[in-house]
Amino acid sequence: MSTFEVHNIRLEPPNISYQGSYLSAMAEFQGDSEKSAWIYLGEDEPHDTPAKDFASYVSRLRSVEATAPPNFVRSTCYWAIYRDEVIGRIAIRHELNDFLRTIGGHIGFIVRPSFRKMGVASEMLRQLLETDRAKSIKKLLITCDEDNVASERVIVKNGGAFESIVPNGDKPKKKRFWIDLLGNSRGV
Ligand SMILES: CC(C)(COP(=O)(O)OP(=O)(O)OC[C@H]1O[C@@H](n2cnc3c(N)ncnc32)[C@H](O)[C@@H]1OP(=O)(O)O)[C@@H](O)C(=O)NCCC(=O)NCCS
Repeated sequence: MSTFEVHNIRLEPPNISYQGSYLSAMAEFQGDSEKSAWIYLGEDEPHDTPAKDFASYVSRLRSVEATAPPNFVRSTCYWAIYRDEVIGRIAIRHELNDFLRTIGGHIGFIVRPSFRKMGVASEMLRQLLETDRAKSIKKLLITCDEDNVASERVIVKNGGAFESIVPNGDKPKKKRFWIDLLGNSRGV
């Protein structure tokens, strides 16, 4: 088997042609919270939605770019493709509401379990920060649970500057970082 080359991943909008690898990736997720993050249409989205009707699932994912569902803001989702397989997902919210301004931030990402610790999240965020969408926001808030060492590392490697740590109800506290695309030099 040839070596994994992380710089060969590319970000693409969700597309029905990736149904097979997307569903295999989903099958790797065990915990509900990770499955919800992968499916992405909100906590209440049933886990079997992509398997039941992949085409309308993809179309709804893409539609959030133009029209946000209730309690959401518009966002752009990309899938990380490596050799025609989906190995990760990253999304950028176009604006912040009260919840996102404190807890959620602009960007969310998740990597298929079998492709973790190979630099995928770091590379997805690096590529996302090069997009016109990210550049148009200029200063991006990214948050992670206080005990999410891997996520914090991905954020800091991409220029995230720690601002604060805030309570999040009965969940782990959130660490808040800003990436300033106008003023920061990034290290990835
Ligand atoms: C967090 C997550 C996205 C990291 O993805 P990844 O592709 O494995 O991350 P990378 O390979 O780019 O690793 C980044 C750094 O974190 C380190 N790291 C990765 N997993 C780690 C772990 N479980 N424990 C400690 N460090 C870890 C890597 O060694 C690397 O450090 P380095 O740059 O010093 O070498 C992935 O674990 C995931 O999908 N988790 C569930 C969803 C999630 O938490 N998303 C983030 C929400 S803010």
